[in-house]
Amino acid sequence: MKMNIIEVESYEEMSEKASELFIQKVRNNPNAKLGLATGSTPLGTYKRMIADYKKNGTSYKNVTTVNLDEYVGLSKKHPSSYRYYMNERFYHHLNLKQENAHVPDGTALDLTIECERYESLIDQLGGLDIQLLGIGQNGHIGFNEPGTSFDSLTHVVELTENTREVNGRFFQNREEVPTKAITMGIASILKSKRIVLLISGKEKSQALHRLLNEDVTENFPASALKKHPNFTLIYDKEAWKGV
Ligand code: PGA
Repeated sequence: MKMNIIEVESYEEMSEKASELFIQKVRNNPNAKLGLATGSTPLGTYKRMIADYKKNGTSYKNVTTVNLDEYVGLSKKHPSSYRYYMNERFYHHLNLKQENAHVPDGTALDLTIECERYESLIDQLGGLDIQLLGIGQNGHIGFNEPGTSFDSLTHVVELTENTREVNGRFFQNREEVPTKAITMGIASILKSKRIVLLISGKEKSQALHRLLNEDVTENFPASALKKHPNFTLIYDKEAWKGV
């Protein structure tokens, strides 16, 4: 198993390291295809990428971004949709072209066709160059919950109660959290040439230790990453210690 592990002091340092990897990728390849994620974990990374764009002019004019997932039923105008999140926290602050910024369409009339379209998009791009990931407390990546096949492509998932509860903080109330989402599958994620997983904070301690110690199993989705030839894990001390 090959895994490049970077331990850092803090969330800030983790974000610094992750942003350096993504900025470097864009500088080396102005046509880079970036796999992006939502949630609390990547916010510091995005802030630094935006600061670098403003200060150093790293250009996203020819960059393509592809996000992991989206809630079924939420339009891009819904403040809790992942498209909205990306607009506010990333896209609108850079010279990225809106047509090159991809998030699954959770309002598509035919979700099966939407999933196929999204997977073909990834294939047409030739796979992504670098994929950013966070992890759920139960080891999910994207919305691939425990038990998801490692062969899965982009698909519709029924969200677990636990995930709905944890994500309730991004909604006015818990009932508003959709019950389904579209997510890139584990196999779609593994198509990326490089994968960077960020783990920060004591809430993620168990997930971190399971990732490091347990065998590769579909019961713990993130363990699939250990089979990838270019996988980098960056975690902070709080996640390591669990306090
Ligand atoms: P978080 O979410 O970054 O908000 O903790 C990560 C995830 O659930 O995949």
